[in-house]
Amino acid sequence: MSVIQVHKTPFTGGLFIKTYGCQMNEYDSERMAKLLATTYGLKLVDSADAADMLILNTCSVREKAQEKVFDELGRWQKWKAAKPNRIIAVGGCVASQEGKVIRQRAPIVDVIFGPQTLHRLPAMIKQSLDLRAKNLENKKIKKKAIIDISFPEIEKFDNLAAPESNGVSAFVSVMEGCSKYCTFCVVPYTRGEEFSRPFADVIAEITILASQGVREVNLLGQNVNAYQGLMDDGDIADLALLIHAARAVDGIDRIRYTTSHPNEMSQSLIDCYGEVPELVSHLHLPIQTGSDQVLAMMRRGHMVLEYKSTIRKIRKIRPELTLSGDFIIGFPGETCDQFKQTLALVKELNYDRSFSFIYSPRPGTPAAEFPDDVELSMKKRRLQALQEMLNEQTAQVSKSMEGSIQRVLVESLSKKSVDDLTGRTENNRVVNFAGSAQLIGQFVDVEVVEAYKNSLKGALVATPEAHKYSNTQYIAL
Ligand code: SAM
Ligand code: F3S
Repeated sequence: MSVIQVHKTPFTGGLFIKTYGCQMNEYDSERMAKLLATTYGLKLVDSADAADMLILNTCSVREKAQEKVFDELGRWQKWKAAKPNRIIAVGGCVASQEGKVIRQRAPIVDVIFGPQTLHRLPAMIKQSLDLRAKNLENKKIKKKAIIDISFPEIEKFDNLAAPESNGVSAFVSVMEGCSKYCTFCVVPYTRGEEFSRPFADVIAEITILASQGVREVNLLGQNVNAYQGLMDDGDIADLALLIHAARAVDGIDRIRYTTSHPNEMSQSLIDCYGEVPELVSHLHLPIQTGSDQVLAMMRRGHMVLEYKSTIRKIRKIRPELTLSGDFIIGFPGETCDQFKQTLALVKELNYDRSFSFIYSPRPGTPAAEFPDDVELSMKKRRLQALQEMLNEQTAQVSKSMEGSIQRVLVESLSKKSVDDLTGRTENNRVVNFAGSAQLIGQFVDVEVVEAYKNSLKGALVATPEAHKYSNTQYIAL
């Protein structure tokens, strides 16, 4: 671990971070906030007006997300003009993809960094401040942004401040990047090839978080189940081994992982569903389409049958497993029959919440060059039909939970009433129920009284004495 350099701070205001996209970005934003608090004493604020530094942590998976960045930068022009000493930094996948083009389109940007260089942010800010001071001394205004969008791989994790929990559940990034190169996806180009954090580093981070009261970890990676972490003895650990080790950390009682690739669902990972009760009965496993032909065009490397077989194996071990996925509608040339195969797959497997979007051509990816004769209006109709089916299935899962007893991790007081608590079920449903604040951070059994569209209403029940989780602390009511 290297020593983090503390800088003299010229800032009187706080730090405002706007995050787009995936959970990896959310995780990165949390780590940036911690890093800038340590190095510049910057405190997170929840409005740009109270800030001296703005960071946009961007996403370029779809065109819309990318364009939002430039809209946002347009809105920040006035903010910068009001106090020119303020700093604007742009990070994430748009920064990685566009580099200096960002500065050309938005000259107010001072620093441009990529997902793998965010640990260098304090030094880049210092360079930007030094440059500004020099320009003032020389009485000339040189317009220049500090840019570093390289991929120095694992260096990032060695140069971040120690993790700090802000709740009972925490993300832990275990691997970065992607080497799958699906024909539609920009991630391998913006985040670089897959690389995994060393096994001991991940477990050390989980142990620190657990000592701060974290009870649930969500192991993160663009392809988290491709994890291959070097161990101290030179062996390589897979995600299954990591899950077993995370389970052994005192205090950790619930484990999630996201996002996975169907080709990396190894037997050892499937076996975890029988061996690790702390692993939730919910799996996010994107398939994108129900058509083998489209899967081949997407270069996903598997067929629908193989995906279904994986789900069947896990459901044999955990019949209660709920499933979510990602779907791309209107891939270039997608026929009506191919789309119907997606609907049929969704119907057969029964999904519980999913992400579905119209295909967005991404510059530099192979699919952006594929001929596409499907009208946008047709794509929109297909998306609507799919989403109706997915929403109906989600509502049915919620409805089927009514009357059931759910194991809930209590997260906080409810936002709506101080007499109520908010927690989450294994399938990530928010449940509100009456209870005392001393239950925060505990696992309790809650009966689902009523299912609403986005949450559940529950009632605390007496918890059973003999419970399958040996190391779970149950509070007697
Ligand atoms: N590792 C995951 C997997 O195995 O598919 C995917 C991670 S990817 C960053 C997240 C999701 O973004 C994908 O599953 C896909 O549905 C969506 N996505 C990626 N590129 C897209 C594009 N060009 N248009 C629409 N959606 C896209
Ligand atoms: Fe993207 Fe495919 Fe990797 S969707 S993140 S290239 S698995």
